[in-house]
Amino acid sequence: MLAPVHIPVLVEETVQALAVQSGGRYIDCTLGGGGHAATILEHSSPGGQLLGIDADPEALKAARQSFKAYSNSILLINDNFVNLQAICYKYDFLPVHGILFDLGLSSLQLNGDGRGFSFQHRAPLDMRLNPDQELTAAYIVNNYPEAELARLIKTYGEEGYSRQIARRIVQERPIKTTLDLVRTIERVIGKRRRKIHPATKTFQALRIAVNQELEHLELALRQAVDLLGFEGRLVVISYHSLEDRIVKQFMQRESKDCICPPSIPTCVCEHTASLRLINKRVIIPSPAEVQSNRRSHSAKLRASERIIAQEEHYNIIERLCSDAKVKTNGNVWRRPAILKKLRQTFSIL
Ligand SMILES: C[S@@+](CC[C@H](N)C(=O)[O-])C[C@H]1O[C@@H](n2cnc3c(N)ncnc32)[C@H](O)[C@@H]1O
Repeated sequence: MLAPVHIPVLVEETVQALAVQSGGRYIDCTLGGGGHAATILEHSSPGGQLLGIDADPEALKAARQSFKAYSNSILLINDNFVNLQAICYKYDFLPVHGILFDLGLSSLQLNGDGRGFSFQHRAPLDMRLNPDQELTAAYIVNNYPEAELARLIKTYGEEGYSRQIARRIVQERPIKTTLDLVRTIERVIGKRRRKIHPATKTFQALRIAVNQELEHLELALRQAVDLLGFEGRLVVISYHSLEDRIVKQFMQRESKDCICPPSIPTCVCEHTASLRLINKRVIIPSPAEVQSNRRSHSAKLRASERIIAQEEHYNIIERLCSDAKVKTNGNVWRRPAILKKLRQTFSIL
């Protein structure tokens, strides 16, 4: 059987939203099969640099092979994007022109390697992106109390039958493989009551819980904003409503100068906007893309641009410099394009 290939989603739209330019520096926080990364490198040539991150060591191993010829322009790191800022400080990779998150799993993970992500292949209930992590789906399924299991399936899977599924799981323990879990869920929901497979939502919930996906996304978005240079772009592609809600609310909040509740007559929050929304409505794949790549059907792209108030600008430089333990007159702002824009806008540096 041929190895499954990951077809990147919304590639042209991503490059446009990132406003990729020659000589720019970019971060792909979810390298996967490297499709987006390759296109970013191509559009940022000559002189472009890319930091590619993935929590899955297998994805990194494959990427090292496919990007062998680009070792001067690409830095590949096997880590969780929740450590984004620490990674950038460690490798002095900041500020950047654009940061991409293409969330979720690649086709290789879903279909390829028996790690328990798919309800269509028999595999141990694992679901860890990083095999060094302790918590597995098997542990959750076989050890969590029924109420906790039900809460998790409802919250992360938005599953209407969460309590019934949790009860049945507890009755049928131990559940060892993906297909054993599918049978348990089917005994609750029945095989043909929905457009989607009956196990879809429970599997999504377990995967999110095992990898703390939503918590990590929230933390990483905050870090990403601070790493963007003036007019740097943040682009996120999400595949389900829980992720998209986090991205939408984050970008909306960060694009406002005041986030006080409407009931408060004068502003007390002292919040200042750090982003400007690029697309007020989400970008979705064309019917032709959905037809040629089924995986793209639920994709939603949101993009925003870093804005920096003058007084905040000084603080950011100070903070970046002290956090990164480099001197202000060193090479922190080394990208000429950013430097030029900062000079023009603030007549400083
Ligand atoms: C949809 S795929 C990305 C595909 C990629 N854009 C491409 O063109 O091939 C998502 C990737 O993100 C990785 N990933 C998911 N959550 C992560 C996290 N918190 N930290 C780092 N990588 C993560 C997964 O391991 C997977 O390889």
